Amino acid sequence: MKPIGTPLSPSATRVMLLGSGELGKEVLIALQRLGVETIAVDRYDHAPGQQVAHHGRTITMSDPVALRTLIEAERPDLVVPEIEAIATPVLEALEAEGVVRVIPTARAARLTMDREGIRRLAAETLGLPTSPYRFCDSLAELQAAIDQAIGYPCIVKPVMSSSGKGQSKIDAAADVQSAWDHAMAGGRVGPGRVIVEGFIDFDYEITLLTVRALGAQGEVQTHFCEPIGHVQVSGDYVESWQPQPMQPAALARSRAIASAVTDNLGGQGLFGVELFVKGDQVWFSEVSPRPHDTGMVTMITQWQNEFELHARAILGLPVDTTLKSPGASAVIYGRVDATGIVFDGVADALRVPHSEVRLFGKPESFVKRRMGVALVHDADVERARVQAKLAASKVKPRRA
Ligand SMILES: Nc1ncnc2c1ncn2[C@@H]1O[C@H](COP(=O)(O)OP(=O)(O)OP(=O)(O)O)[C@@H](O)[C@H]1O
Ligand SMILES: [Mg+2]
Repeated sequence: MKPIGTPLSPSATRVMLLGSGELGKEVLIALQRLGVETIAVDRYDHAPGQQVAHHGRTITMSDPVALRTLIEAERPDLVVPEIEAIATPVLEALEAEGVVRVIPTARAARLTMDREGIRRLAAETLGLPTSPYRFCDSLAELQAAIDQAIGYPCIVKPVMSSSGKGQSKIDAAADVQSAWDHAMAGGRVGPGRVIVEGFIDFDYEITLLTVRALGAQGEVQTHFCEPIGHVQVSGDYVESWQPQPMQPAALARSRAIASAVTDNLGGQGLFGVELFVKGDQVWFSEVSPRPHDTGMVTMITQWQNEFELHARAILGLPVDTTLKSPGASAVIYGRVDATGIVFDGVADALRVPHSEVRLFGKPESFVKRRMGVALVHDADVERARVQAKLAASKVKPRRA
């Protein structure tokens, strides 16, 4: 990588974020601090990341023509996908043509954009332990997969969806039809394919943030953050904490799985490897080749948070994944459907000892939209969890 230049000059190092929500916003801030010129792309104007970048662009990133036109016009040094819904074949073509470098690789972006690519890679190519699964294109196929292979309870998810959208647990035959309908309504691209997975009765689940960064000799080294524990409600993260205490055998297995997946996906950058743990047993669930929502806790727990780690790693700079303090995060939801909302109680939230609040600045609120996050550090992770939830509950969004 050429040396970092001066933004808005011919020497500038230019990085384009595809997706500029709350996670992209923090990556952009980390890049800004390193003197990088930033281009924040999203599907709507005034997305959080566009508010802190040098340039904002609004396009439909799943539209191959729009995406290619924008990248060819801007010619960034790096393209950093921050969401899954991107026309990834265009990224693969532009990478192959030598037009741009895609983070971590265009192949990783393609394999992780739907559940099928990454699940088949992990389970069938790499032989990693996962929940039992089948892919189905109709209600009849779903019922047959459950009857013949998966059994009850199981979980149905659209292959193209995130944050739990369209996902449901099936406990008995009576639930199959409604789970199918819910998946069809919640998928990202029209009616289509689902994955049905056997339900894993885990003790806890973690995100293992894994960083591929260059060492002094220019070789890629893998670094692990302390494991992050989290709670998901209907497939969406509501609180996370770090470190999640783990038995040494389970931690070693988790790291081995994370290494296998990230070595295969390749490139440089930070990955969020999602794992289920029961005793010493560990199952791979999925991976984001980018910062992870549960990793927002690292904004208060690590010397270099996950966004700074990603920024450093993609620029070829050294990283330090050391924990600064145990801590926790709790999500602040919109609670109302409205634009231009206001937030009461921020001062009360910040009176909770050792707390911080991030408000993302999203132009439009929905009842269940993530509008901010409360962060608390404490010597005791359990206390940090209680205090983070307390701080989040003090923030009261309402119509302006
Ligand atoms: N096979 C399974 N067994 C038990 N629980 C599961 C299983 N699959 C998913 N879950 C639960 O649902 C959550 C969301 O699932 P998953 O990560 O696959 O969906 P997602 O929509 O990609 O979510 P996100 O985008 O928030 O990561 C998991 O974190 C876990 O709590
Ligand atoms: Mg997930």
